[in-house]
Amino acid sequence: MNYPVWYVPFGPEWLIVAIAVVHVFISHFAVGGGLFLVAGEARTRRHYDPALVEWLRRFTKFFILLTLVMGAVTGVGIWFTIGLISPEATSTLIHSFVWVWAIEWVFFFVEILSIIVYAYTWDSMPKAAHRVVGWIYFIAAYLSLVAIDGILSFMLTPGKWLQSHALFDGFFNPSYLPSLVARSLICAMLGGLFALLILSFSKDRTLKAEMGRYASYWVVLPALGLPPAMYWLLRTVPAPQKLLFRVNPIVENFTWVMVAASCLLVVVTFLFIWLKPRSLNTYVVLPLMVLAFAALGAAEWVREDIREPYLITDYLYINQIPVKQADAIREKGMLASSPWVSEKEITPANEAKAGEELFRMACSICHVPRKGFNALGPRLTGLDHAFVTALVSKTDLMRAGMPPFVGKPEEAAAVARYLMDNAPKEPVPNDGKAVWKRRCGECHTISGPFRPVADAFAGQKAEDIADTIASIEMMNDQMPRWTGNDVEKTALARYLSEACKASAKGGAK
Ligand code: HEC
Ligand code: HEC
Repeated sequence: MNYPVWYVPFGPEWLIVAIAVVHVFISHFAVGGGLFLVAGEARTRRHYDPALVEWLRRFTKFFILLTLVMGAVTGVGIWFTIGLISPEATSTLIHSFVWVWAIEWVFFFVEILSIIVYAYTWDSMPKAAHRVVGWIYFIAAYLSLVAIDGILSFMLTPGKWLQSHALFDGFFNPSYLPSLVARSLICAMLGGLFALLILSFSKDRTLKAEMGRYASYWVVLPALGLPPAMYWLLRTVPAPQKLLFRVNPIVENFTWVMVAASCLLVVVTFLFIWLKPRSLNTYVVLPLMVLAFAALGAAEWVREDIREPYLITDYLYINQIPVKQADAIREKGMLASSPWVSEKEITPANEAKAGEELFRMACSICHVPRKGFNALGPRLTGLDHAFVTALVSKTDLMRAGMPPFVGKPEEAAAVARYLMDNAPKEPVPNDGKAVWKRRCGECHTISGPFRPVADAFAGQKAEDIADTIASIEMMNDQMPRWTGNDVEKTALARYLSEACKASAKGGAK
């Protein structure tokens, strides 16, 4: 609550991911492409090939333009957006890693200087010296990746830093090494991919045959290392967050996009370039670039979302509320804790308006109210105010991996009022499965991975289950009271009786 909220009406995640993906795409290419250049130049040592040198020179021009200009623009863009959207986290990262940022800028400076020298001295510098400049560029670029990786992996697994707040504990955290390995492989793949792109514009078929196959090695071979690297990385992810792969639909879907796009990328590269480098053309390479962009975009999205409900695991929630302050804020109330809101007291007249301010503080980092990505209103159609209030105050119990709501009961009621005002008023289906989805399914699966209910209801008749539902809050003090009508109750009971029976035989989830 130390900073005001920058409200992005279409959802801030889009903005962060859109800029971040372009930046990640370019900055990993800046490392891998650098290695490709020096490795390509090393090939001319044994056998001097003027066509190859001419091509490398052209590649360098493209490289310098893309990495320096777009890299700088998107890099500044990232600082700008995270500074506004996640000021508390940005401040923590700056303060905890000030020396890492400092050395990072030294590496940047060396990178910029050396790549400019490299690009303009292909003819004027002795060949050996020119190669050395290339290596200096690559090493500086790789070290900047090494530095950034420590900070990014820290956010997922801060490890011992949580107790010590020591720089090295945070930097060399549990996911540091596997994440560095995965990123290095991605760098090499992007280096090869961009080389293919530049090569596809060339008319020299001999060069295409030779370098096309060589560049395809860069895509296919590192890709073989990615699954084990990802598996290693996954093993360092804390268990509650690992569960998100199975219960949070957004994480689940983007994981599939990532896996499918990467597999397709590798197969197409192998079939159409490795095996037939001579026929290399832009119609093959451009779809490959799109696939790589999709894979990286999905991976970035998963990386962001797998931390939920945190921005820095166990330290800062995604909505900028420090874990340590949650209880104090809950006691005082969110409106009273924030200097940035206009509604301080909740009255019947301003309830929805106060609810909107609370929603912006607590939920708008992941949800929009009415229409768009992860819109909440439409999901609440057919629910009543009491139940929605219960959901709002228990966000941390639901399957999505949400932070707890740290407001007072009347503040939860205000958020519910605002959300209900944004819920379309249309009839909803009243079959048992639909009722289960809207009144129980946020917090339970029938048998599956999340707080299963099958055992509790197995073997019970629908009438008995209906009785249980009527006073369901007696089962557990965390569960919302039943506030649905009798039609819903009967349908739900019948559905549960069937589904739990089926699951005992190994059926429904
Ligand atoms: C970390 C991001 C995040 C934050 C912050 C967050 N949510 Fe969610 N929420 C999600 C995701 C993801 C889902 C699951 C969406 C799906 O099922 O497709 C979800 C689902 C829900 C649902 C269940 C909707 C349904 O399908 O029935 C409710 C209700 C909800 N959120 C309310 C809130 C409220 C109220 C807040 C603020 C107090 C909040 N959320 C904050 C990410 C978040
Ligand atoms: C806001 C989240 C939430 C909603 C909505 C919810 N529950 Fe629960 N439920 C819980 C929690 C939390 C527990 C306690 C589980 C635990 O401690 O393991 C629980 C426990 C249960 C249990 C006891 C499980 C056991 O074996 O101990 C049953 C049965 C159950 N819920 C059924 C339902 C049904 C039916 C609905 C829909 C009418 C429902 N719940 C809606 C959160 C919820």
